[in-house]
Amino acid sequence: RSECSMASESRFDCGRDRVLSQDECEERGCCYSPLPGSSGPPWCFYPSLYPGYKMSPITPTKRGQTASLTRVTPSYLPKDIFNLSLEVTEETAGCLHITLKDPSTQRYEVPLLDGIRHTKASSQNVLYTTEYQSDPFGFIVSRKSSGTIIMNTTVAPLLFADQYLQLSTSLASSFVSGLGEHYTPLILDLNWTSLSLWNRDMAPHADANLYGSHPFYIVQEDDSLAHGVFLLNSNAIEVMLQPTPALTWVSIGGILDLYIFLGPDPQSVIQQYLQIIGYPMMPPYWSLGFHLCRWGYTTTNATRMVAQHMHSANFPMDVQWNDLDYADKRRVFTFDRVRFGDLPEMVQEFHEGGMKYILILDPGISSTSPFGTYPPFEDGLKQDVFIKNATGQVLIGKVWPGPTAFPDFTNPETRQWWEDCIRDFYSEVPVDGLWIDMNEPSSFIQGSVDGCPDSELERPPYTPRVVGGQLNTGTICMSAQQKLSTHYNLHNLYGLTEADATHSALQKIRRKRPFVLSRSSFPGIGRFSGVWTGDVRSNWEQLRLSIPAVLQFSLFGVPLVGADICGFGGNTTEELCVRWMQLGAFYPFMRNHNDKPNAPQEPFVFGQAAQAAMRSVLNLRYSLLPYLYTLFHHAHTSAATVATPLFTEFPADANCRIIDQQFLWGSSLLISPVLDEGSVEVKAYLPAGTWYSLQNVSNIQHGQPLYSKGEYFLLPAPLETINVHVREGHIIPQQEPALTTTVSRGNAFFLTVALSASGQARGVLFWDDGDSLDTFEMENYSYLIFTAGERLNGDLDALVLGGLQVFGVPSPPLHVLANGVEASEFTYCADSKVSFLKVETFSLIILKQQPD
Ligand code: GLC
Repeated sequence: RSECSMASESRFDCGRDRVLSQDECEERGCCYSPLPGSSGPPWCFYPSLYPGYKMSPITPTKRGQTASLTRVTPSYLPKDIFNLSLEVTEETAGCLHITLKDPSTQRYEVPLLDGIRHTKASSQNVLYTTEYQSDPFGFIVSRKSSGTIIMNTTVAPLLFADQYLQLSTSLASSFVSGLGEHYTPLILDLNWTSLSLWNRDMAPHADANLYGSHPFYIVQEDDSLAHGVFLLNSNAIEVMLQPTPALTWVSIGGILDLYIFLGPDPQSVIQQYLQIIGYPMMPPYWSLGFHLCRWGYTTTNATRMVAQHMHSANFPMDVQWNDLDYADKRRVFTFDRVRFGDLPEMVQEFHEGGMKYILILDPGISSTSPFGTYPPFEDGLKQDVFIKNATGQVLIGKVWPGPTAFPDFTNPETRQWWEDCIRDFYSEVPVDGLWIDMNEPSSFIQGSVDGCPDSELERPPYTPRVVGGQLNTGTICMSAQQKLSTHYNLHNLYGLTEADATHSALQKIRRKRPFVLSRSSFPGIGRFSGVWTGDVRSNWEQLRLSIPAVLQFSLFGVPLVGADICGFGGNTTEELCVRWMQLGAFYPFMRNHNDKPNAPQEPFVFGQAAQAAMRSVLNLRYSLLPYLYTLFHHAHTSAATVATPLFTEFPADANCRIIDQQFLWGSSLLISPVLDEGSVEVKAYLPAGTWYSLQNVSNIQHGQPLYSKGEYFLLPAPLETINVHVREGHIIPQQEPALTTTVSRGNAFFLTVALSASGQARGVLFWDDGDSLDTFEMENYSYLIFTAGERLNGDLDALVLGGLQVFGVPSPPLHVLANGVEASEFTYCADSKVSFLKVETFSLIILKQQPD
């Protein structure tokens, strides 16, 4: 058949839902043509024109178009939805929104976007054009300026059945990133791979669906432009990638709700995406300091000792953590009265020492405590806050404390109860933030202690490839009932809804900026929380892949992210831990955390040379915190990235397309860590321009320039240092480090100015009290712009500043410094309190007052 003769990479799978024999394949009207091997192109695939939906004439709406779609021939899936409505909305010039849904029945839709401000398109200047194929239905979205095809869904049929929604599209290039959370490089492998999005408690490894789901990808086009696509859908999703290049979305519920972001540059794509899902929260300043944790600080004294040891060995550290050890029988909202009896006093001591304290809070609420002894469960029952099973009883799973019930955070009552639980606990133990773990939600028994009913929710006609094979492995039943819908629909939102509830509770209780760290995630979680990448193992491969993991969360609008430094699972080695601390000093969120059975990995347990290396990189981070904080301000107010992939900063440099062993902080610092055992050199790519070493590294002095044409350099990288380069034309605001940010925030600032070839540089500093709510929104901050060598225009050269007068100087100045030098010619008038000063050139004038 001629319609079956396409190139093998252009085949789209006609048997995704199950393995088909030749007869079964042909019964579907598909092409059957076996190939050697089983992992490549499908053997059963759609012919070039395969019956699908037929589109009615399209009619214009206020901001787009609408049409109805009808399927005449049934597909091969159970419960086809024969009529669909297509709605195309021009949201903004760079954002096109396309939805496909059932006009006759309200299907589940993600309740995500309330409260996020949206801008509207000024439709003359939209960056996209749309075309439609009416039979079988498909659409093509192109970039108006270049004609590049962004999406073309005519490559394979649209399927829309009750529990199987499928949409394929061609891709504009093979440089695709996103679709988290998985253990992958920054650029995804399109060689017939598939990625499932289903939140799962699963230590990072290849081919597994991990803790979070982010149905968003970004494509680097061939001409340095970029676009992104977001499928707003929280059901289990599988995305098939093929080298065509092309991609197929399969979701097993909800609607098809697509946002297409035209950029045109990568940073704008991220910004447009975040305009839909929400800009990230502003973290407290202290949370950018160093955090220390492990499972196995079994008493308050053990916990105190580590913190003391850190500071007496001169390691900067802001936050001490406790894992489950603190809790009485591992039940949240309690603490062990023997081992942690003086927990409140310990927290107070930390506070007195200028430190902060965080502990773990799992969502599972123990259900088997003797009656009258555990209010969180009993109050929760009374207030009806827990997820129910299909027959309406509280669903019981198993987590660390044994049998547990799971709060339903989609229920407003639950949010109130959660806030009350946190408030009660806080009144005894004034924590500074909360670490919300196990919130996929994770359960150690499949579904529930009573199993799950046999239904199409538990065993849908098609199950995306997930670890364990079934949706309810490692979690609760799909048929479980939450306020908003079934767990089948809401599973991927569990962590997000818990993060929202926790953030809002902390905000109300502490009246300060909340700090929440979540393991599970979904688009929008950056508004409430940071994320860590879960139970990484202590090995070099996991160290390497932690960079793309962190960078992906940058793309997902979660700038506050890091991996467990030195690794969580298994014993670390000294060398690995030094290299991990060096890289980790440049994770936006920096925490060393360790599993219970492992050898200790706090900085002070290692040899002197290793300690010196760790101390030096901690001091380096602390000296850079004013800059890091400013980057978070930009993330919060303009959706800029903090840890930044090279491709988003240098989209026109083709060498940057795949780099994920180096990254930037904002646009000014390039970080090139050692990621291989035994290496004392690093092969680092420097985009074209001048880059200055921030530190002394071997025989390279700090400030020494490297002139790059856009090339790789082999740089010395002995164990004691990490290579960090300042980009020409940039100014980095810094501050002398100290053992805590409480102290360092009072230290002297200094500026590192990296001049461009023409002698110019620029930088900014955002500064506020670091902990109050909404300082930006209330205009309770300072924003300083530093420039070096900048002139507004040549005409200024002729202007002479001969002096200045200052009104309102309360008492005669003792000294007047102009450019740091004592100025002899100044006058002061005691009556008018005006000082007059004659200067030649002027940059910095300081009037030193007499002490009162
Ligand atoms: C989970 C977390 C880990 C934590 C442990 C015990 O494995 O991912 O960070 O230490 O539970 O609470």
